[in-house]
Amino acid sequence: MKKNHLLIVAITTALSSMAFSTTSFADPKVTVENEYVDWRVLSVSHRNDKKTLRAILGNDIAIKASRANKTKPWPEGSIIAKVVWKERTHPNWGAAIVPGAFSTAEAMIKDSKKYASTGGWGYGHWVNGTLEMHPEAKAKTCYGCHQPMKDNDYVYTFSAPMTAKK
Ligand code: HEC
Repeated sequence: MKKNHLLIVAITTALSSMAFSTTSFADPKVTVENEYVDWRVLSVSHRNDKKTLRAILGNDIAIKASRANKTKPWPEGSIIAKVVWKERTHPNWGAAIVPGAFSTAEAMIKDSKKYASTGGWGYGHWVNGTLEMHPEAKAKTCYGCHQPMKDNDYVYTFSAPMTAKK
């Protein structure tokens, strides 16, 4: 019985690694529902032109790299999420701009081999809880606009200082 069980595990592992090696450019990497909701903060931003607020969040790999100041390049497996809200004036304090309606959640995933043609980053967004990666043609339009940040591994975000400088 035990032997059979091990055999099944071995076959399943072999099959899933085969499946992984044949995944296409647009296959999502992670499938936990809206996993970014529990990620930690890398930075925030405000677009004056679009009247939106953004939180830039990272998965554990990205956060660890950011805190250690090792983001040139970002390590393989890093995922950066950008969560966007319409800006809203705080109803009880007119000088405060706070998040209003949820707009979108976009992602960049570092996988230098899989996404070699778009600078080592896959581009996607969360749809109904699932991260969907854009096909190569669309990802190239994302990549195109991230070109000015080539020397920052195509990432616009500068991780925000999280404490006063020592
Ligand atoms: C017209 C230019 C432009 C295009 C096109 C564009 N981006 Fe960006 N992206 C930006 C700018 C500017 C920022 C930084 C400002 C901000 O926080 O929104 C940014 C930031 C991001 C971030 C946060 C990490 C970082 O680089 O700072 C993600 C994730 C992201 N974009 C995903 C995408 C995806 C996915 C697409 C394609 C669907 C895309 N972007 C297309 C300009 C662009």
